[in-house]
Amino acid sequence: MKHNVVTVFGGAGFIGLYVVRALAQQGVQVRVACRRPEEAMRCKPMGDVGQIVPVAANIRNEDSVAAAVRGAKAVINLVGVLYNRGQQNFDSLHVDGARTIAEAAQKADAKRLIHISAIGADLESDSEYARSKALGEQAVEEAFPGTTILRPSIVFGPEDDFFNRFAALARLSPALPVIGPNTKFQPVYVGDVADAVSACLADDATAGCCYELGGPTVHTFQNLMEIMLAEIGRKRLLVPAPFWAASAKAYFLERLRIPFFLPKPLLTRDQVRLLKRDNVVGEKSLGVEDLGITPTSLSAVLPTYLCRYRRAKDNGRKVQTA
Ligand SMILES: NC(=O)c1ccc[n+]([C@@H]2O[C@H](COP(=O)([O-])OP(=O)(O)OC[C@H]3O[C@@H](n4cnc5c(N)ncnc54)[C@H](OP(=O)(O)O)[C@@H]3O)[C@@H](O)[C@H]2O)c1
Repeated sequence: MKHNVVTVFGGAGFIGLYVVRALAQQGVQVRVACRRPEEAMRCKPMGDVGQIVPVAANIRNEDSVAAAVRGAKAVINLVGVLYNRGQQNFDSLHVDGARTIAEAAQKADAKRLIHISAIGADLESDSEYARSKALGEQAVEEAFPGTTILRPSIVFGPEDDFFNRFAALARLSPALPVIGPNTKFQPVYVGDVADAVSACLADDATAGCCYELGGPTVHTFQNLMEIMLAEIGRKRLLVPAPFWAASAKAYFLERLRIPFFLPKPLLTRDQVRLLKRDNVVGEKSLGVEDLGITPTSLSAVLPTYLCRYRRAKDNGRKVQTA
């Protein structure tokens, strides 16, 4: 792929930034396609002058997608949302938008399409997110045979929305609700997800395959909260929340928006449904190791960014890690 153009939709997002960096390091010309190209300006220093080019594209607009993939040898789709909001919803992005990208990539004669889905993608799921991810997989496979699908578990890293969110809450609240304390997760490091994308692009034998991306260990939700609290050096009460109670609370929380202060809902009923199912790599699935990647542990990375949630007096002192 060296010197070839690769278009990355969602390249200015959390995982996208790491993918763009990994591709730039391989010498690829990266086109970062996003709705607000100014958001992608922070990608530019990751490559040589002119190597990383932000372009305006909305995957709900076919013409902008076609323009973004013109001349690209490969296309990566990282666009996704965790809740519905007007026209930005599961159907329009995970299904129709994914199909638009796949059709445009096919028309543009791209050689590869890498589509980021999620563990738990399932046509039968009661979660709309999980169903839309499964429908999206079907749509891209139809439109672009040979698409490589990557399904991560929860992704962690300095800018993640999981550990940062709960650590921020723990700073303010004496107790944390744990919805589905026994639900299992296999958190994967964002750098490993980016390496997985690069590895897939570098090896045509990965075309048509689906990889489930997880870290080296499986943890329950309760366990992840304990690890986070140990890391930030704070003792907090972990209160198991029954699904029905969490769902009732989510009914109100998903409606609560405060401009600038609370732009995303704190919790939605669909997220509660997702928390009912384990989110781990399937026993028979291909995984990160099949791409030649040794998965990074939580303990290697969490201290590098959760330290900002410690008390000032604890910083510099060794905190006990779970
Ligand atoms: N993070 C995780 O733990 C995790 C786990 C499993 C799967 N995934 C999947 O991995 C992918 C990337 O996740 P992420 O955490 O990096 O998400 P993210 O930070 O929210 O990034 C998503 C990107 O998509 C862009 N986007 C949204 N709507 C768009 C549209 N209509 N047209 C063009 N771009 C649009 C967003 O940019 P703007 O909104 O600024 O335009 C953003 O840059 C998603 O498909 C997600 O479902 C993530």
